[in-house]
Amino acid sequence: MTQMKIKKAVFPVAGLGTRFLPATKAMAKEMLPVVDKPIIQYAVEEAFEAGIEQIIFVTGRGKKALEDHFDRSFELERNLELKQKDELLVQIQSLVPKTGTIVYTRQNEPLGLGHAIWCARDIVGDEPFAVLLADDLVKSQKSVLTQMVDTFDRLRASIAAIMEVDADQTDKYGILDAEPMENSVVKIKDMIEKPDPSEAPSNYAIMGRYILTPRIFDFLGKKEKGAGGEIQLTDAMKALLEHQPVFGYKFKGERFDCGDKAGFQMANLAYSMEHPDIREKLLDYIRDSILK
Ligand code: UTP
Repeated sequence: MTQMKIKKAVFPVAGLGTRFLPATKAMAKEMLPVVDKPIIQYAVEEAFEAGIEQIIFVTGRGKKALEDHFDRSFELERNLELKQKDELLVQIQSLVPKTGTIVYTRQNEPLGLGHAIWCARDIVGDEPFAVLLADDLVKSQKSVLTQMVDTFDRLRASIAAIMEVDADQTDKYGILDAEPMENSVVKIKDMIEKPDPSEAPSNYAIMGRYILTPRIFDFLGKKEKGAGGEIQLTDAMKALLEHQPVFGYKFKGERFDCGDKAGFQMANLAYSMEHPDIREKLLDYIRDSILK
C-alpha cells in the first residue's frame, strides 16, 4: 500500500434489485429518485464531500440511465437555456464531474456484492479505497463517509460503518462480534453474514459504507460463495481480519434502507420535509387523508 489518502470510491450498482421489480426491470435501483434526485446522486455527492477524486461504478444491466445521468445532455441544456430556466440549467450542468473522474467497469453476472467490488480491483490498484452502497441513504450533518475518512486518518485500517439493529433483524445484515475500543469505534473479532437471531453474536450490523485496504482483493479473488450462494464482502472481510485489524465505526445520522420499499418511502418522506414547497402540501395531505 503506497499511499494512505482515500482517493477512490467504488459504487457497486449491478444488483438485480428484485425487491423493486418491475421498476428495476430496465434500470438500476440506484436510479430511483428520493424527492428529485436519484439515490446514486446522494452517494456521489457524499463521496466528493469526503474528498474522493475518482468514482468507480461497477454496473450491470440497465446502466445507460446511470451513465447518462452523470454526462452532458446538450439537447436538454439547450432547451433549458432557450426557456431561460437558468437555475435548473446550472443544476444539470453541475451534475457532470470533470472528465475522467468517473470510471465504469462491468460485473457481467450478479454473483454478489463481494464479486462486484472485486471487478474494480485493477482500477483501485494498491491503495485504500471507499465502498458506498447507494441504497443505504444517511441523513446527517457531516456525511458518513467524511466521518469514516476522519476515522481512517487515525486508525489506518479497514473500517465498516455499523449500527445497532433490532435483535430479530440480524438475518438481514452482516453482524459483528466486536469489542469496544474508543468513542464510536469497535474492534471487530468476527463477522457473519445474515445470521439467524439465535446465532447472532451481537446486534451490531454493517451498513453500506466501507473503507478497505487493497489486501481485501486477495480474499475476494478466492470467489468463495457464502450466504445466499453469493460471493459476500463480509466473508472476505472476515478472512482479512486474520491478517489485519478491521474496525467498526458507529456513524452519526439517520439511515434509510432505500433497497426496501418501506425504507424508500420513509426516505422520501424525510427528505420531502426539507423542501418547503413540498412539506406543507404533504403535511396537509397526511392530516386530511391519512389521520382522519
Ligand atoms: P442487495 O443485497 O441490496 O441486492 O445489494 P440487490 O440485487 O441490489 O437487490 P434485491 O435484494 O434483489 O432487491 C447490495 C448492493 O450490492 C450491489 C447492489 O447493486 C447494491 O448496491 N450488488 C449486489 C452488485 O453490484 N452486484 C451483485 O451481484 C449484488
